[in-house]
Amino acid sequence: MLGRSVGIVGVGSYLPEKVITNADLEKIVDTNDEWIVSRTGISQRHQADEDTALSDLCIEAAKLALADAKVKPEDLDLIIVATVTADYAFPSASCLVQGKLGATKAAAFDLGAGCSGFMYAIATGSQFIANGVYDNVLVIGADILTKITDYTDRGTCILFGDGAGAAVLQPVATGEGMLSFVLGSNGENGELLIQPAGGSRRPASVESVEARQHYIKMAGNEVYKFAVRTMGEAAVESLVKAGLQESDVDFLVPHQANIRIVDAAVKRLGIDRDKVIVNLDRCGNMSAASIPVALDEAVKTGKIHKGDVVVMVGFGAGLTYGACTMRWARNGEETNV
Ligand code: UT7
Repeated sequence: MLGRSVGIVGVGSYLPEKVITNADLEKIVDTNDEWIVSRTGISQRHQADEDTALSDLCIEAAKLALADAKVKPEDLDLIIVATVTADYAFPSASCLVQGKLGATKAAAFDLGAGCSGFMYAIATGSQFIANGVYDNVLVIGADILTKITDYTDRGTCILFGDGAGAAVLQPVATGEGMLSFVLGSNGENGELLIQPAGGSRRPASVESVEARQHYIKMAGNEVYKFAVRTMGEAAVESLVKAGLQESDVDFLVPHQANIRIVDAAVKRLGIDRDKVIVNLDRCGNMSAASIPVALDEAVKTGKIHKGDVVVMVGFGAGLTYGACTMRWARNGEETNV
């Protein structure tokens, strides 16, 4: 990375209380626990209630990350929310978060890169710090996919859950923090994972709702193949860019879509399974939230320590993919510069 070194100095996450188990899904679609667990690794996922919107999840995660980083909302320079399920088409979720947090001087924008959103957002936020424009950036990966999930489609409704994860970025000591980013896209296959109606191509109408076009549509098999190919490749490329190799990895924090996709990435990297952070059994696929929530859990449970090499990698709608290699720079006076 050129310019100042940038690191994550605080993390936080939030999951809605309500849980949907595989047994709950068995009651509404033709599926069973054995199929879901063996094909995806998922046993349950969290679901926000009717009155809860995306920004509500973001604010809870953001407060925890700010407290962890010992940063006050009014000191934030920029807030980026990576999501495809903002409260409204506009205003942005990031502006709602900025207002409710009281981050009075922060610029704010949303960023849409599907499940790769957190990768794109930390890469973007880091640039502002590396080049000296900003000192305190809040990056949130959040999605509330259960609001756009079709609970008559057993191919998708078993996968998705809601959540938010947040990270505070600051300048850190040289050589710590972000070592490399890899971002990519494959737009010609964008329709493989899509919410067809509600945008300017097909505005919401009685017909679009009746045709269930406001829900997620996914060609699961095709997305699966893309994921298996790109997750491993992007992770390896980010290690090479950082001047490291597979054996240097202390922890892999992958997008939590399907345990078989995670296993394929692990095999490609040739790393031990105990170096991989997995929460999809409890949380399902939380889209842009999945990586930051898993990262927060790994930090708060004392797995990740200062100096560890952590690789985050994801893929998602777009289609997109992204990876980041970092040397964990714990917050505290000794690393903040
Ligand atoms: O974050 C990015 C978002 N997207 C993803 O991560 C999705 C990536 N794709 C996947 O994870 C997998 O493709 C799925 C989990 C979605 C599907 O697993 P699969 O092993 O690719 O199954 P399949 O679609 O090939 O379906 C195999 C069979 C089919 O039956 P037949 O045609 O063989 O008789 C499906 O109808 O399994 C059936 N099936 C189910 N059976 C029970 C599909 N969904 C279910 C279900 N319960 N929920």
